Amino acid sequence: MDVRDELSQQELNLLAQAKLLDLAPVEAWTAIGTNMQLAYSTHGIFRYFGKFPPPVAAHLIEKFTEVGDLVWDPMCGSGTTGVESLLRGRKSILCDVNPLSRLLSRVKTRFLSQEVLEQAVNRVIEGYRPCGYDEYDFLPIGLRNAEHWFLPETANSLRGLKRIIEEENNDLIKDFLLVLFASTVRIVSRATTQQGRLFLDVVTAKEDALPTFISKTKKAINAVSSLPEDAEKFVSIVDHDIQHEFPLKHQSTTKLIILHPPYFNAYRYSSVNSLELSWLGFNHNVIRKSEVRESFKVGKPEKVNEYLDDMSVSIKNACGLLVPGGRIGLMIGDTFMKGSYIPVTRMLLDTIPSDIKIEQVALRVPKYTEATWVASQRRDGTAIGVNLYDFIITLRKC
Ligand SMILES: C[S@@+](CC[C@H](N)C(=O)[O-])C[C@H]1O[C@@H](n2cnc3c(N)ncnc32)[C@H](O)[C@@H]1O
Repeated sequence: MDVRDELSQQELNLLAQAKLLDLAPVEAWTAIGTNMQLAYSTHGIFRYFGKFPPPVAAHLIEKFTEVGDLVWDPMCGSGTTGVESLLRGRKSILCDVNPLSRLLSRVKTRFLSQEVLEQAVNRVIEGYRPCGYDEYDFLPIGLRNAEHWFLPETANSLRGLKRIIEEENNDLIKDFLLVLFASTVRIVSRATTQQGRLFLDVVTAKEDALPTFISKTKKAINAVSSLPEDAEKFVSIVDHDIQHEFPLKHQSTTKLIILHPPYFNAYRYSSVNSLELSWLGFNHNVIRKSEVRESFKVGKPEKVNEYLDDMSVSIKNACGLLVPGGRIGLMIGDTFMKGSYIPVTRMLLDTIPSDIKIEQVALRVPKYTEATWVASQRRDGTAIGVNLYDFIITLRKC
């Protein structure tokens, strides 16, 4: 359905600037609600910068699948698609190259009882004490300057928490505790908690990590223990780089892929989460090598060709998973660089395989609370936050 008559002149101008106005029927979408309201179920147990609002996934799932169907998200981030699929009785397969994403996705889609979780948290609280490196020889991995981001007391406190969590021998419970631990890291660090990018904000550092860890437990326990008890049967989590073809057994298995790649001019996810990754024992520099290439650091518009190369292979591989008639819901944004608008979305759509048709173009109008993060990611050399909109493109395999 084309509802362009209902779009404002500004929205039509944005679509025209993006060269998306005459490709397919157009719509405007938004997801209303405060961050708190959108943090239902397990969505709120980790503050993941750059996730999409759960109603976007919910809408696509309800529109294009039925109860019992399989939904894929090959760049799953914090697992939003998995949670929304689970809540709607759909199965899902979630992939990501980032181990933090896979950890979050797992914990957000696995039931554990309130009693088991409370006991596990109590074991951590009772066994906790700050530890120097001489007592527990763990150092955050891959951080060039760990002292810059963590006070020595904070590092000892986090080391003490990690030591006791590593003693947990049930993997599911340990993963749950590791998510609470990861949620604590940024808050107690010397980095700002307001933006995805790491900026020094010395005022927010906390020497003792335990109170922050404890403050995260109640909500997370309530959320995880309210999931369906057989949740594990519905959601699979796989370490897969979308730039590699998916195994044959997965080809032509799904009616819906939800694809929300990193945007061209955005800070890498491995960098956004480098502090958490380092304390979980993963080197963000290694993960970076598998991520879709962007141009955040160098700011060179011509780098868009590398991004397009990576993303068109990614879309081709994703298409292999679709049954004929299946859809991809692609959420992606354009960018300004050096004062020029780069119509990344249109450039990417021009590369898609010929058996993939563009069925609909939706302009996504951001809700106010997203603006600060999004603004910090989009630069035009003179201004910040020039374009707060992105697109949800529905693609259909013939
Ligand atoms: C925009 S985020 C997805 C956010 C997700 N929709 C959510 O709601 O949390 C993009 C994700 O793509 C992942 N990614 C980047 N390159 C990848 C690749 N080559 N293969 C698989 N995942 C990749 C990043 O690690 C990141 O988690």
